[in-house]
Amino acid sequence: MHFRQLGRSQYSVSSVALGCWPIAGITTLNATREESLATLRAAVEAGINFMDTAYAYGIHGESEQMIGEVIRDCRDQIVVATKGGIHRVGRGQEYDARPETLRRQCDESLQRLGTDRIDLYYLHAPDPQTPITDSAGAIAELIQAGKVVLAGASNLNLHQLQQFHEVCPISAVQPHYNLLQREIETELVPWCLNLGVSICVYWPLMKGFLAGKLQRDHQFEAGDGRAKYPMFQGDEWHRNHDFLDELRIIAKDLNVSVAQLAIAWTIHQPGITAALCGAKRDWQIQETAAAMHVHLTEDILSQINAAVTRRGSIVSRAAV
Ligand SMILES: NC(=O)c1ccc[n+]([C@@H]2O[C@H](COP(=O)([O-])OP(=O)(O)OC[C@H]3O[C@@H](n4cnc5c(N)ncnc54)[C@H](OP(=O)(O)O)[C@@H]3O)[C@@H](O)[C@H]2O)c1
Repeated sequence: MHFRQLGRSQYSVSSVALGCWPIAGITTLNATREESLATLRAAVEAGINFMDTAYAYGIHGESEQMIGEVIRDCRDQIVVATKGGIHRVGRGQEYDARPETLRRQCDESLQRLGTDRIDLYYLHAPDPQTPITDSAGAIAELIQAGKVVLAGASNLNLHQLQQFHEVCPISAVQPHYNLLQREIETELVPWCLNLGVSICVYWPLMKGFLAGKLQRDHQFEAGDGRAKYPMFQGDEWHRNHDFLDELRIIAKDLNVSVAQLAIAWTIHQPGITAALCGAKRDWQIQETAAAMHVHLTEDILSQINAAVTRRGSIVSRAAV
């Protein structure tokens, strides 16, 4: 379960990747630079060789910069994925995936990461003002120029992915997916399985909820971006907690934590190459990385699926 092929490439990536959004310090608060560096180092020590970031993670690209600092001495052991096409404007974000913007952002990402190549470069999201094929063409050129090795696309619908793939073959897609948010299973997963495209999923812990440490009476701090999502409010919140209570029982029987069970379930699903696990503390990624070694039997998977059915999937919008 530990290492998997990325698309049809030579790369082998850990089934748990470190998601480097929480260390960017924008919506997930209170992670100091030292704590973030410790989180990155803990991920490597825990056997993770796959890091996911973006040009837009951080007011000034702090996430990419810190990754660059940590991988300086082990660059060839780490598969670095970053994204272009979104940039920050203060604490907000704007979409711009014009070819000239992607070229400039890629150069800046290379510099921040302190590397001469980006292993996997995603279009972060479609830019409503730029045809998908133009953005795809720019990434194909970055591959030809040797700055990028593999192309990926995030937050695209199936039609957009098909358009992208015709201009620039995709090795990985990056949608959101977890126990309760499973929209990709109907169309996207079969498409990827058919073409040998990896699926690297974000929000495997549903922004921390499925780690089971946010109590029913949890009050989000002012500025914690999670508070705005309906799944963290009102009746949805309580129904999700009822589901979590069921997961706790299954996790206890297996002697794993709820977070480990949620991640192990994710990486057991057909077509899923990696769960991009966000963390803002070293102990968090140590805990989730251990899920790579948890084997779930058919019986356990059916128990979990029965609990999901009782809860019902959440239809949700993506991050961007
Ligand atoms: N392509 C896109 O548009 C897109 C969008 C979103 C994310 N992503 C990528 O996907 C990654 C994952 O998404 P995410 O980071 O937003 O969500 P996530 O992985 O579902 O949740 C991460 C949060 O869960 C909590 N957590 C993690 N491990 C824990 C543990 N063992 N115990 C308790 N709490 C724990 C931490 O929050 P607290 O400590 O604050 O509770 C952490 O910030 C991102 O980092 C990023 O790389 C991509």
